[in-house]
Amino acid sequence: MPNRIPSSFIDEVLARTDIVEVIDGRVPLRRAGKDYQACCPFHEERTPSFTVSSSKQFYHCFGCGAHGSAIGFLMQHERLSFPEAVADLAGRAGLTLPSVVEGAKQRGSEYAGLSEVLTRAQRYYEQQLRAPAGRAAVEYLKKRGVSGAIAGAFGLGFAPEGWDQMHSLGADAAIRDALHEAGLLIRRDGREYDRFRGRLMFPIEDYRGRLVGFGGRVLGGGEPKYLNSPETPLFHKGRELYGLFRAREAIKRASQVIVVEGYMDVIALAQFGIEHVVATLGTAMSVEQFERLFRFAPEIVLCFDGDRAGQAAAWRAVETVMPVLREGRQVSFLFLPEHDDPDSFVRREGAEVLRERLARPDPLPEFFLRTLSAKTDLSRLDGRAKLLELARPLLSKMSPGVLRTMMLAQIEERAGMPRLGLAREWRLTEEAPTSSIKRQSGTAGRATIVRIALALLVQHPELAARAGDLSVLQDSGRAGVSLLCLLIEHLRQEPAKNAAIVIERFKDSEHSHILASLAIWQHPVLAQDAVAEFEGALRQLRQQAVRQRTEALLERSRTEAGLSSAERSELNELIEQRGRAAKDASGTAKPGVGK
Ligand code: GTP
Ligand code: MN
Repeated sequence: MPNRIPSSFIDEVLARTDIVEVIDGRVPLRRAGKDYQACCPFHEERTPSFTVSSSKQFYHCFGCGAHGSAIGFLMQHERLSFPEAVADLAGRAGLTLPSVVEGAKQRGSEYAGLSEVLTRAQRYYEQQLRAPAGRAAVEYLKKRGVSGAIAGAFGLGFAPEGWDQMHSLGADAAIRDALHEAGLLIRRDGREYDRFRGRLMFPIEDYRGRLVGFGGRVLGGGEPKYLNSPETPLFHKGRELYGLFRAREAIKRASQVIVVEGYMDVIALAQFGIEHVVATLGTAMSVEQFERLFRFAPEIVLCFDGDRAGQAAAWRAVETVMPVLREGRQVSFLFLPEHDDPDSFVRREGAEVLRERLARPDPLPEFFLRTLSAKTDLSRLDGRAKLLELARPLLSKMSPGVLRTMMLAQIEERAGMPRLGLAREWRLTEEAPTSSIKRQSGTAGRATIVRIALALLVQHPELAARAGDLSVLQDSGRAGVSLLCLLIEHLRQEPAKNAAIVIERFKDSEHSHILASLAIWQHPVLAQDAVAEFEGALRQLRQQAVRQRTEALLERSRTEAGLSSAERSELNELIEQRGRAAKDASGTAKPGVGK
């Protein structure tokens, strides 16, 4: 998704955020000098290498290389998306997120945002269900056994037949644009018409309870059976889970969350008093969805049809969840009889029978072993070897820990080779995988002048104002120097308060890695010397650039072609500058750092 949040707003959010507070609420920090420390929440360790810097507003783990701003921390720790993390911090800071609707501007007194039109549409659909137009929909719900109370609790509605229902929400151009962006209006060949017509409407909320889209079901037969909102800045099918906000308390109470496939399943179970239930929106579970659910409960039970499609879907879930599975997180499966879904099952068998089944689902490690074993002939030596080969790619995805060790032991045993030591055999690491930053930090340690200047600038962005004239540096041709110039010019136009803000602004650029490694680099300059060192470094760089250019011109003046008149006057100018710069440099007593 394109980042629609203005970068000035992100700056403002970061400027008003204290990363120490944000992290301390989740990972208790201990003061260590001017920084804070903890055992890293992103990999397993006994001695703290996770460091949070208040001045840089940045965290960094020397063990696994995890690093970032407060936004990055929420994304990594809470599994929020970028806009979600910004929204979360904005909320803490008392800032209101600007509307994400492009082109929906203030017009008269009417303000149309994406959320606004979704809410209006929701109200409209609910009214229509109660209006005469909704009679067929009410009949349909009755036929399926959905009570009026439950329909109300889930905000069910009805989109009547007709191509221009949405007109009643406002004819204003800004509203039409927002309706279009929300996916409620379709624009084609210069015409506009409603997406949802003659459908039972299921409002979809995100995990925070914001209305983000709709699902619409035909009454009875018809194609497609379900029509969902398209992807919009607010709605991402692969990320949302139907019913999560409503179910969150029940999920925490049950320490378990049940995942079903259909809207109607969630509704039916709720009607039967089983409320810790969410549904995917017609897609396979994504890693984000697993992570999100694990924040609410340690156990996820996935319900599938008992047929082959259900087994295949369960296996897909195994493959997806492996990288985020570890001790303390359980995934199990509940396979229903063929051709049943939770809706039909609970209505036929009753809540008690379903509850019993939910209490003893099929744990993932067992399903894993059973499925793989079924693919090989374990009475044969080569069959047992094949079992190991089938298990390998999946178990290799798991992070190290007790659960992986146990699953490895189980596979060894099943293969008839207990104590084979698969972890060693497969060269599975004992530590969490490291990011590229850690590998880079070795080279980042080299204290050249450019590196020092860059690091000082990233860590104290206000230094940009002290950089002086950049003209001789601009075309030096050195990568470090051009990045330095680029950064200085950028920061002069848009000053930044701390390192985290700089990093967030450049996070999608080719420089993001190097800037992040500079932000965490522990260079030898003391904070109180930063200004003098930075000015000194720039002076030295300018001298180097002047010297290089002078030498290049002198070199060429000795060739047959010689210098053009412009170059000749440039050379004179440079020689003068060099004199000035030398005088300049002798005025500073402090020796520069590095070479
Ligand atoms: P009922 O048939 O009314 O009981 O629906 P259900 O909620 O049991 O849904 P079903 O098991 O048929 O499908 C599971 C989920 O897949 C639905 O809730 C939808 O999210 C999605 N889905 C099903 N059919 C379609 C379709 O035709 N198009 C799209 N986009 N999604 C669908
Ligand atoms: Mn169904």
